[in-house]
Amino acid sequence: MLKFEHKLRGNVALGINPLGCKQQVWNEINYVKEKGTYEGPKKVLVIGASSSYGLSTRISLAFGAGADTIGVSFEKGPKSARNLGTAGWYNNIAFREAAEEEGLIAKNFVQDAFSKETKQDVIDYIKNEFGGKVDLVVYSLASGVRKDPETGEIYHSSIKAIGEPVVGPTINMEKQLFYTETLEPATDQEIADTVKVMGGEDWQLWMEALKEADVLADGVLTTNYSYLGTELNHPYYGGGTLGRAKADCDVKAENINELLSDINGKATMVVATAVTTKASAVIPFFPVYCIALFKVMEEKGTHETPIMHQDRIYREMIYGGKPEYDEAGRLRPDNWEIDPDTQAKTKELVHQLNAENFNSERTAFDTILKEFSVLSGFMVENYVEQDITLEELKELTY
Ligand code: NAI
Repeated sequence: MLKFEHKLRGNVALGINPLGCKQQVWNEINYVKEKGTYEGPKKVLVIGASSSYGLSTRISLAFGAGADTIGVSFEKGPKSARNLGTAGWYNNIAFREAAEEEGLIAKNFVQDAFSKETKQDVIDYIKNEFGGKVDLVVYSLASGVRKDPETGEIYHSSIKAIGEPVVGPTINMEKQLFYTETLEPATDQEIADTVKVMGGEDWQLWMEALKEADVLADGVLTTNYSYLGTELNHPYYGGGTLGRAKADCDVKAENINELLSDINGKATMVVATAVTTKASAVIPFFPVYCIALFKVMEEKGTHETPIMHQDRIYREMIYGGKPEYDEAGRLRPDNWEIDPDTQAKTKELVHQLNAENFNSERTAFDTILKEFSVLSGFMVENYVEQDITLEELKELTY
């Protein structure tokens, strides 16, 4: 029988519990089901569907709005007892099984979303087996690397400051350390490469390919998740390389709006709230902001996990008639995070943090550790210890 161990290297999770991942998918499904159904799209494509924001979006739309879904993701299956693959691999399987039990289509493409081949495979599937059109396209990709589909050149993103170095406290979750880190400014090349990987170019390429193939329904909507943050994280996020990439998505949203105008389509940047995910845990300094922010939001009753946030976005805002847009036309579900009183209290708390108290009751350190563990199938609510063999895991298909 396999032993599942939660191992970390810094703020990167190594071990996974595939059965815990399955239970967590079920927990999210149950969260949505308890809220009841809502009127929403029926044919949805989610790019980056296997974890955190993309997965929660897919769960809300399938189990809340009754949508058939296609999910694209890049995950790895089990190889050996020491290498069981990635959590997203098992999330895809658990999602498909649960959706099919409800009579919903849940097709998974586990391949590189940046490539032309994947776009073509998805288009062929929509045409031949998915009813011909999609009415919502969600872009929720987070990646450190992208192969250019035209040139084959590989680009890497870097999470860096721009202009001046940034010095501040950060957290190592593996060693439970609070220490000072310096984030060096990026070179022009690093800025350009980060925009190439995490900017909006691939989103636009997807929408162009889908439009060209005539698989977008009249009135199609496409969403892409952004983060703007506040003055507390501006030096390393909004004002850094990631901020540049997100600004590029705003520009691409305008291009996509033009592209879709003749089919009454719309591209919306969704400025999502800070949550604990694989992608956010590795942003330097960000966990320090989060342990303070989440504490304040927990006390106010506004702290959200990805499923709570995504379900609110689609159920209440986009399809529920209560959207809040900013002057740039972006949807602002981060309204609870940027609330002035929440930010003032977060700022006060951040300034009181030190190596002695960062993991005490004064902060939400425990919340972050738990939420981070859950991403790999550990500390999952309602999980009951079970046995499974490597062979049985290998037989599971997405
Ligand atoms: P995540 O790391 O949990 O998920 C990323 C998804 O992209 C996974 O499904 C992964 O399989 C997929 N993916 C990565 N490379 C791929 C490739 N080459 N081909 C196909 N699929 C690939 O990330 P998370 O945190 O859910 O982020 C999603 C989006 O939400 C990002 O744009 C992020 O900037 C944004 N966001 C995240 C916030 C946070 O606090 N985590 C806050 C606001 C926005």
